[in-house]
Amino acid sequence: MCGITGYIGTNDAKEILLKGLEKLEYRGYDSAGIAVFNQDGVHIFKEKGRIADMRAVVDGTVTAKVGIGHTRWATHGAPSKGNAHPHQSASGRFTLVHNGVIENESELRVEYLQDVKFNSDTDTEVIVQLVEKFAKDMETEEAFMKTLRLLNGSYAIAMLDTEATDTIFVAKNKSPLLVGVGEDFHVVASDAMAMIEITDQFIELMDKEIVIVKKDQADIYNLQGEVIIREPYHAELDVTDIEKGTYPHFMLKEIDEQPLVMRKIIQAYQNADGNLEIDSDIKHAMAAADRIYIVACGTSYHAGLVGKQLIEKLAGIPVEVHLASEFGYNMPLLSAKPLFVFISQSGETADSRAVLVKVKEMGYRALTITNVPGSTLSREADYTLLLHAGPEIAVASTKAYTAQVAVLAILASATGSAKDTIAEFDLVKELGIVANAMEILCDTKEEFELMAIEYLPAAINCFFIGRSIDYFVGLEGALKLKEISYIQAEGFAGGELKHGTIALIEEQTPVIALATQARVNGSIRANVKEVAARGANNCIISMKGLETEGDRFVLPAVHELLTPLVSVIPLQLIAYYAALHRGCDVDKPRNLAKSVTVE
Ligand code: AGP
Ligand code: GLU
Repeated sequence: MCGITGYIGTNDAKEILLKGLEKLEYRGYDSAGIAVFNQDGVHIFKEKGRIADMRAVVDGTVTAKVGIGHTRWATHGAPSKGNAHPHQSASGRFTLVHNGVIENESELRVEYLQDVKFNSDTDTEVIVQLVEKFAKDMETEEAFMKTLRLLNGSYAIAMLDTEATDTIFVAKNKSPLLVGVGEDFHVVASDAMAMIEITDQFIELMDKEIVIVKKDQADIYNLQGEVIIREPYHAELDVTDIEKGTYPHFMLKEIDEQPLVMRKIIQAYQNADGNLEIDSDIKHAMAAADRIYIVACGTSYHAGLVGKQLIEKLAGIPVEVHLASEFGYNMPLLSAKPLFVFISQSGETADSRAVLVKVKEMGYRALTITNVPGSTLSREADYTLLLHAGPEIAVASTKAYTAQVAVLAILASATGSAKDTIAEFDLVKELGIVANAMEILCDTKEEFELMAIEYLPAAINCFFIGRSIDYFVGLEGALKLKEISYIQAEGFAGGELKHGTIALIEEQTPVIALATQARVNGSIRANVKEVAARGANNCIISMKGLETEGDRFVLPAVHELLTPLVSVIPLQLIAYYAALHRGCDVDKPRNLAKSVTVE
């Protein structure tokens, strides 16, 4: 969600800050701004809307070697130029950008800032005004720490002080932030992608740490002022991974990458004998658990629902799947020996992280399945399994979903082999078949574009139905469609229709049905007949071997436990084309952020 950049060095900061912010655009935002220092003082440029709108107001003649940048996803106060960051203290001495939410901002205003006139509706402004207040009696560094010690909530902060023009003051709690190290310069960024073009050396920051960043030095402290020593790590990011290349949208590129991701996952998890294997500590933790609790949000939650089937069927361990945002406040009765599995593409989702913190406090073990090595959820869990999907930029998650399902299959089958609960299941071969099937589907894009045109040209709603594992894929198909095309879309279990939902079916209501499971092939088709009788515009997507005349599309056959890996692709593509034909911003849908770093 939103982003921060900072630069201090020998080059012009402006362009570096702007380019960095553009690399963070995928995270979602509603306004943007930069502040730079030079001999004439601080120059602030900000605007509501896209970075391009802000670029248009940047004075090209201003050059500076120090600066901070921000994309805002409004939490306090409407998206507007006035609320856009950077914000300044009353005297203009301090200039600050912030990602996150200050939960006790009202209390702080009452206690410390009654005499201050605020210029915005943001919680952020409280921080910069507090620093100014305290800096009247102490050094900036101390005033900064004192302020941070008072804050409840989440923050990634970069701050300039007109009386310390060789420094960027940086702090982090719960919201992601890194300091990048270069020759003769340092940068600040919400993620490495923003600055990978100029450095691949980054220093991780832990919660409640500050960094005093200068051109050739970055000193880390905790909020008590104790020095922390941490070496930079090498960020393994390929610049081309974060470029669209010849694709019109990242989403389409990422859909197309799915066969390759399957093969990368096979490679990454294959042992010397050619079998798919996971770290033995993870296997033991799985095998020792009497129940697995999967915790996740959105698409990752949908992957978790498929993961439950895989783990229960292949490893014989009962699994519960929970929405992180619910679990934290309404924890179920836990079993005696639980293991928590967090699934998160970004590894930064605040709802999931809140649960992780809670279960760690309770003394339980946790495994994170994520695409981002070094992400918060990965660092804070006991174990990590990586997705190897490469950066996912489009807000709508596609390749991360299939990577999550594949890694869950590996986790389930490796645990199953260790426990001897698994019947003959050659996962390398089965995932290879999946990769080939995915390729066929990606080469059949026109078919799915036609389906989007045929079923969804003027639709105001659309239903996805399925039974068993197809039901979970239907939920994901509906999420994909609604988030990027804004068509109201819902996924339903086929058998539930007549318990209420069928009342919504009218003449020409689009109903997309998945039929990939032999056991329920007859019953899902009966459900399709029921909606057809009420006028629905049906579209059946079935699987080779289970097809019937009139099916709109027949998927290549794959193992029955792995069908989500292929059945989701037509749904991703239908959503993509539906959004495209409606003129929607496919990669950056309204109101959404890529990584949701506030609860
Ligand atoms: C997916 O298309 C969504 N944009 C969203 O549901 C996402 O999956 C969710 O926010 C979870 O993110 P995470 O996997 O990074 O934790
Ligand atoms: N809470 C702050 C605001 O509303 C920061 C939001 C963000 O993370 O961008 O301005």
